Amino acid sequence: MKTKILKLLKDAGGYVSGQALCESLGVSRTAVWKVVRQLQEDGYAIEAVRNRGYRLAESGDIYTKAELESVLHTKWAGRNLVFMQQVDSTNNKARQLAEEGAVEGTLVVAVEQSAGKGRRGRSWVSLNGTGVWMSLLLRPDFPPECASALTLVAAMAVEEGIFQATGLEGKIKWPNDIVLEGKKVCGILTEMSTEMESIHFVVVGMGINVEVREFPEEIRETATSLVLHTDKDVNRAALAAEVMAAWEKYYEKFLQTLDMRLLIEEYNQKLVNLGREVKVLSAAGEYMGVSLGINESGALLVKAADGKVREVVSGEVSVRGIYQYV
Ligand code: BTN
Repeated sequence: MKTKILKLLKDAGGYVSGQALCESLGVSRTAVWKVVRQLQEDGYAIEAVRNRGYRLAESGDIYTKAELESVLHTKWAGRNLVFMQQVDSTNNKARQLAEEGAVEGTLVVAVEQSAGKGRRGRSWVSLNGTGVWMSLLLRPDFPPECASALTLVAAMAVEEGIFQATGLEGKIKWPNDIVLEGKKVCGILTEMSTEMESIHFVVVGMGINVEVREFPEEIRETATSLVLHTDKDVNRAALAAEVMAAWEKYYEKFLQTLDMRLLIEEYNQKLVNLGREVKVLSAAGEYMGVSLGINESGALLVKAADGKVREVVSGEVSVRGIYQYV
């Protein structure tokens, strides 16, 4: 009911009478008043004026389950929303829910993570209220070998979501970091549970730094957050909702071919490394080359000094700029 009242107030844009709210929801005036009180406690500026009703004023970056539900405009992604004040890692929680049978599209969002996970066993700093930390549960019906591209699809969705919510144009650092002015603003950690030839579930974890102003020493040179690039307020609920909408758009295209075929062009347009000299660091050693963009399977094509084009497969290697992070 909280989400419904919030939506009615948002859609009205001005006063809505108590009577109209009661009638739309089929509840008493007292019940409406109680929910309005709860919303005010959540931080919404709702005016209550005798004979006119209720009006919602601009309320800033409110990040609650009801707020996120009220701005979500997806068909399925995030429709089963698990919103938590604090959790160790949204990926862990999504995995647990998946094992308990949660539906595809379940989205776990946390205001704070106490043990956020990054790639390669690193940790991900996710302090209270400073970012969008969320994990989307998928139950794909395709073979495990197609799943590595999902992380590229997620990168496209986050880049687009950031643009829709803030107007900031990020770039993708292959395979799936989002960068703003050469610094990482978002990381993606995809985890899978598989059998020989089928996938039980996939968890796509996305961490977007929104209002991080101080970074740990070791990432200070390479990390950034959205507020450092815009004067406008960033609304985390709107950002999460836009990422989910973009996810549906790109994932639908991916599902048509089960590879990046229909997305290559757009991905490469967003690719920060395109045409740049990169250093490929793998277990077998490192080499330099020029990045030519991705192929259908999502591998990065790198033209090495000997003129040969090599396919760099995600997971095996790390790609850097020759002097710095991008
Ligand atoms: C990276 O190292 O670049 C990946 C970082 C992924 C962080 C996100 S935050 C939400 C989700 N839950 C986690 O524990 N990790 C991912």
